[in-house]
Amino acid sequence: MEQIAEAATISQSVRSFYERLPYPPPVADLDAQRSLCRDPTRRRALFHQVWPTEPRREDHEILVAGCGTSQAVRYALREPGARITAIDVSEASLLHTRRLANRYGLDNLELHHLPLERVQNLRRSFDLIVCTGVLHHLPDPDLGLQSLRAVLDRQGAMRLMVYAPYGRTGIYMMQTYCRTLGIGTSDTELRDLGAVIDALPSDHPLATVFRRARDFRRPDAMADALLHPSDRAFTVGEVYDWLDRCGMCDGRSARGAACQARSAPAARCDGVASRHDGVAQLRHVP
Ligand SMILES: C[S@@+](CC[C@H](N)C(=O)[O-])C[C@H]1O[C@@H](n2cnc3c(N)ncnc32)[C@H](O)[C@@H]1O
Repeated sequence: MEQIAEAATISQSVRSFYERLPYPPPVADLDAQRSLCRDPTRRRALFHQVWPTEPRREDHEILVAGCGTSQAVRYALREPGARITAIDVSEASLLHTRRLANRYGLDNLELHHLPLERVQNLRRSFDLIVCTGVLHHLPDPDLGLQSLRAVLDRQGAMRLMVYAPYGRTGIYMMQTYCRTLGIGTSDTELRDLGAVIDALPSDHPLATVFRRARDFRRPDAMADALLHPSDRAFTVGEVYDWLDRCGMCDGRSARGAACQARSAPAARCDGVASRHDGVAQLRHVP
């Protein structure tokens, strides 16, 4: 009972966080990326990255779970022949997504205010499920992944991204600092936190992330990294154990897996994976 109450509190605080600070930082348009989204060579490469041996088709059912402010619109622009369904718990994020969709007159995108743990309420199944930067924020990532798997088509694939620990060492140090001092997400607190980060020595573990991540200086990006109420990271081995636990490697779901989590801040798995044994050595990567 206590665990259920705790999970509900975490879900509520994650939702409130993204109502106040939608992430990624909202953009007014995607004009610059539009031609890239539609580039036929890139689209073909992205298709075969997920379905290496299958003939191209365009009429996919795609779920973008935890779509944030613009991701689902990018997919809808890129895949005009597909139906994109996007869900999120943050109305503010959905509002930004809706504005962008209206700007481009997209009629292949539908939005739902729905936690991914309840995605089965849609009573649909999907060829491709995209869930990047979301599962590591859930109180129960297993429940989240199992819920997604339950709506994955038999030949379907998932594109997942979760945080990896090592590249985020500096971030976790700063999260502890922020929690210890009780730093919140007000404008003043975020400005002061920016000044603290500016004053960090160049050999602080956060400095690399700071240099690499172009948008880290933005208050909303800084808050997402340093003040998030719920965030955990997975090693490569933990990713594989997690996929096993959630029934993702039983031969039902498709194709090869790729994980790059050794030093990067995130682990990506594309087209998760029955041919799992081919990359089994990755389990032993720390
Ligand atoms: C870091 S953002 C990532 C957005 C998007 N996937 C991307 O990569 O651009 C995380 C998003 O997940 C949403 N989210 C968090 N918990 C969720 C849940 N249980 N169900 C659905 N969406 C959730 C948040 O509201 C937020 O929009």
